[in-house]
Amino acid sequence: MHVISVAIPKGGEGKTTTSVNLAASLAAAERRTLLIDADTLGASGISLGYTADQVKSGLYDVFNYTHSLNRVIYKTELTYLDFVPSNISTVQMEERLLRLSENRTVMRIALRDIEQQYDYVIIDCPPTLRGITTNALCASDSVIIPMRASHFSLDALMRIMRYLKWIREVANPQIYVEGILLTMFEPNTKIAEITGRELRARYSKFLFKMVIPKNSTLAEAAFYGRPALLYNINSKGAQAYFELATEIVARDTASGKLSQDGIRDAASFGGEARGEEMPDPPRGKSRDLAGPDSI
Ligand SMILES: Nc1ncnc2c1ncn2[C@@H]1O[C@H](COP(=O)(O)OP(=O)(O)OP(=O)(O)O)[C@@H](O)[C@H]1O
Ligand SMILES: [Mg+2]
Repeated sequence: MHVISVAIPKGGEGKTTTSVNLAASLAAAERRTLLIDADTLGASGISLGYTADQVKSGLYDVFNYTHSLNRVIYKTELTYLDFVPSNISTVQMEERLLRLSENRTVMRIALRDIEQQYDYVIIDCPPTLRGITTNALCASDSVIIPMRASHFSLDALMRIMRYLKWIREVANPQIYVEGILLTMFEPNTKIAEITGRELRARYSKFLFKMVIPKNSTLAEAAFYGRPALLYNINSKGAQAYFELATEIVARDTASGKLSQDGIRDAASFGGEARGEEMPDPPRGKSRDLAGPDSI
């Protein structure tokens, strides 16, 4: 089982869109996939067509030790995609969840329950680092960092890189960066050029080769409660996420962690397998490192 958190400590960067559409694409490729909504706003659930009244139990119950993870799994339109909603309906529940998530091992222990049932677990994190995101990172093999082309997104990227270094030191030495993913990408714009330059100068080994284009179908599909590939499979957005899933599956297959039929050797996942060290966060002003080429 390969557990991937989708995280960056900033709102509106494409975490939920990436989680839902990556999970759906992995499922379409017949990988047994579980999407966990770790954001109390429940946007993943909404993007899959779940309304609050349909959600009777969820991640809150797991953290509250009233249900095992297995008991809060819901089916979706896709045969290979299951879903764990975030069932937070009051501020009190949210505060309690924050307290409960101080125990960093809750998610990791909960996932043991389902280890044999899934090839991939995708965790949609909230736009913060503490609390449930920390729990998710402690339970993950790797992390995808989605970000838009913007100065503030670069700041958030630096923050999570620094935080991951700390997570590796204190709680999860195995976690590695699956990739930095440019989302809502608009080529031939100045901001795309500057951000691309910064990323290549500082984080080039972590960058996914492909980018997710700005594509209104992704937003529309979420509105109608469906992953983009069930809404318009030929859209650029659906295709881009399918390509991302293909890249991840190909990597896992090439490294021997994924057989034709699914994840074979869960124990061999780890940072050293990719030979990656978490970089020190860059210190100077971003412009200092700017190179001449564009993305
Ligand atoms: N590639 C894209 N093209 C066009 N719109 C997009 C794209 N990706 C995401 N969006 C839209 O941008 C908005 C923010 O995306 P999303 O909800 O995935 O971000 P998020 O990081 O999960 O935000 P939050 O931190 O608030 O949970 C949404 O309305 C979504 O539909
Ligand atoms: Mg979100």
